[in-house]
Amino acid sequence: MMHATATDLPMPDALPDVRVPPPGPLSRAALVRLQAHESPNVTAVATDFPIVWQAARGSAVRDLDGNTYVDATSAFGVALIGHGHPEVVAAVQRQAAQLLHGMGDVHPPAVRIALVEALTALAPGDLGHAVLCGGGSEAVEVAQKTALLATGRPGVIAFSGSYHGMGHGALDATSRRDFRAPFVAQLAHNTTWLAFPDPARLPVGVRAADLCAHTLERVEQLLAHPAMGGVPIGAILIEPIQGRGGVILPPDGFLAGLRALCDRHGALLIFDEIFTGCGRTGALFACETANVLPDLLCIGKALGGGMPIAACLGRPHVMAAWPVSHGEALHTSTFLGHPVAAAAALATIAVLQREDIAGLAARVGDDLQALLRTHLAGHPWVREIRGRGLMIGVELIDPTTQMPATTVAWRTVTGALRRGVLLLPCGAQGEVIQLTPPAVLTSAQQLCVVLALRAALDEAIA
Ligand SMILES: Cc1ncc(COP(=O)(O)O)c(C=O)c1O
Repeated sequence: MMHATATDLPMPDALPDVRVPPPGPLSRAALVRLQAHESPNVTAVATDFPIVWQAARGSAVRDLDGNTYVDATSAFGVALIGHGHPEVVAAVQRQAAQLLHGMGDVHPPAVRIALVEALTALAPGDLGHAVLCGGGSEAVEVAQKTALLATGRPGVIAFSGSYHGMGHGALDATSRRDFRAPFVAQLAHNTTWLAFPDPARLPVGVRAADLCAHTLERVEQLLAHPAMGGVPIGAILIEPIQGRGGVILPPDGFLAGLRALCDRHGALLIFDEIFTGCGRTGALFACETANVLPDLLCIGKALGGGMPIAACLGRPHVMAAWPVSHGEALHTSTFLGHPVAAAAALATIAVLQREDIAGLAARVGDDLQALLRTHLAGHPWVREIRGRGLMIGVELIDPTTQMPATTVAWRTVTGALRRGVLLLPCGAQGEVIQLTPPAVLTSAQQLCVVLALRAALDEAIA
């Protein structure tokens, strides 16, 4: 049997090549070792899932057993510019050789200065001040802290279906009950929940515009009577397109309506663009498509080109709520603005701009949605195909019971894996197949993804 070695990289445009049924023997042996020493909560291991990754380039991933997969997940949306982009890899190698670690909030490494300049230049409007973070959850928590400092009001309005991360602050605004329940005793309970106005789930006789107006009225009531939600509200926190919640787009005018209400009531608008940002939805930031500027913008995932880095960007007058540091920063960490991650982010930003990744995501996303419609529209188990750019969801429904097709969605994911395509489920019950591939996905790879999805779905319902 041929086994991949660390130097045996897949071609970026490789097509699926499954030589041994996944997980193959080498993956299985490695998973046994993992289970012996990793907390059992981290990696779900079954007979048909997962595989152990060995190498990745572009849209292709190779596992320990030498199988090659087309990655329609970008590994949680990170590899938007492609896995292992050569410029990011080179920047990481250069930076690692030169300055591996800096000093967080003291003695800034030069590369961190270059990154905050580049980030604030990239961001829309006057989002001119940045706090660099280690991951998305922390960026959300910086936004939550900023909102409290700026408004004096700790409450946040968040929406059903939201996912903002797992840290205690972000978790307080993450709607999934199963994530929150074990830790509910430790949460601050600063979040007031509203139903996300989902145009795909309109009650009979209700138009999307009505739902939008109704939700905005509820928001206004909460902002006008700050104690109504229990905690005085200083901010609205929202994903401009919900990702993990099931790829859900708000109705037209909703985000602009939130902006107007925040302005009227002195609250801050926080956009969590950790998933949607950096070009994924066909614009550099989803807020630009809606023509709405938030007060605080959280970004992460694709920003580091594969290295862990995120940021909370804010308008200067909002960020001015933080006191000037005279030696003790109020929000920092040992690895703040880590030089190697910062160098990777700088290289990623250069690629985003030079290669117009947002434009590419728009075109590839349109092609992929068209292919999905050709091969899946009208399928009895497909309720809807939706999304923007390279954030696409295929929602599955049991045609007999009209219930979310959770089991079929999972079987579709494992069936696609056997066919050499990486997919993930999302949505409240895991009933949506999420497609968030790299922007460099070729047309041949797109076809493989869609045909594998169709075949896996048909097998799952057989
Ligand atoms: C919209 C959104 N916000 C926040 C997060 C949390 O980011 P991280 O996992 O880097 O903490 C995620 C992760 O999936 C996300 O999709």
